[in-house]
Amino acid sequence: MQGGAPETRDTDLMEQIMTAADTITSLTIRRPDDLHLHLRDGAMLAAVVADTARHFGRAIVMPNLVPPVVTAADACAYRDRILDHLSDHKHFQPLMTLYLTETTDASDVVAAAEAGIIHAVKLYPAGATTNSASGVRDFDKVRSVLEAMAAIGLPLCVHGEVTDPSVDIFDREAVFIDRVLTPLRAAVPGLKVILEHVTTADGVDFVRDAGGNMAATITTHHLFINRNHILAGGIRPHYYCLPVAKRERHRLALVAAATSGAPQFFLGTDSAPHLDTDKQSACGCAGIYTAPNTLSCLAHVFEAESALHLLEGFTSVHGAAFYGLPPAQDRITLVKRDAPVTFPASRTTAHGEVTIFDCGEELYWEVEASL
Ligand code: DOR
Ligand code: ZN
Repeated sequence: MQGGAPETRDTDLMEQIMTAADTITSLTIRRPDDLHLHLRDGAMLAAVVADTARHFGRAIVMPNLVPPVVTAADACAYRDRILDHLSDHKHFQPLMTLYLTETTDASDVVAAAEAGIIHAVKLYPAGATTNSASGVRDFDKVRSVLEAMAAIGLPLCVHGEVTDPSVDIFDREAVFIDRVLTPLRAAVPGLKVILEHVTTADGVDFVRDAGGNMAATITTHHLFINRNHILAGGIRPHYYCLPVAKRERHRLALVAAATSGAPQFFLGTDSAPHLDTDKQSACGCAGIYTAPNTLSCLAHVFEAESALHLLEGFTSVHGAAFYGLPPAQDRITLVKRDAPVTFPASRTTAHGEVTIFDCGEELYWEVEASL
């Protein structure tokens, strides 16, 4: 930059942009998709599904029920049970997944995908998280299924943590990348893979450098919490999830990735309701329930990063594109209120309360005119 005049013009422009950003109070975006969601079943499903359907158009529904969703027939039946609760939200499409086991039948997977019944297969290393006992121990046993998926472009959603008890829980994602994900990508290079709920800078770097058929979902809660939120000054079970939140530098890497506009990164809330009695226990369940306030939280993060213009890509465009889904045609509007918006502390189910995520900050954005 030479001379005084151009610098003055740049300064003026920057002031205008900052003024505009300060005064944005309404944002209309394509209706978001949640590319990683736990809806459960029975009374819990009945209590929680509207919290997602109210704001979102589609969701990739996780298959870790008890027993898990392992066949096309299971997925059809589960989809019907979800749809039974959606008479007030007919726009919402649950996109079903199968739980990969060592006995999964490749032809059943291909037939389910070609019939539009399923949109992904989920890989849980055995024992990695809630209801993952039927997961994979020997990756050679699922190789033919992965090759069949690659041939038809069906994505593999990966819970990216090793379960080796000798590996520290805070290192399990990084070790998974070295021990499992890198060899898996080399073994089946054509497979679309999503590193679900990425929690580390290592994961972000891996995905960013991996090339076209690799992506990652980022949750809402991992943009807010680090491991101190769980453990410092008392143990806080409602911030406990898997993969567990890591150090602050990892949270910052996730915020940078989510707000970067890079198409490999998109929203998968991993909203995972558990009864408070199951979380507030000597051996509490992993999972954070974020569905009711996720979009308010995300608008808050993107605004703080001066990236509100990139929110739509993260919530509504990148994920659909990776899954080969058409972009949503309808839209929602987020409005910024003058006073903080409040959310209930919990959702009531037939069996008890489910605490809603408290992001620890005052939220001003909310979805307007939701269905
Ligand atoms: O925190 C989590 N909860 N992580 C998972 O991977 C599973 C989920 C659940 O199903 O509760
Ligand atoms: Zn999950």
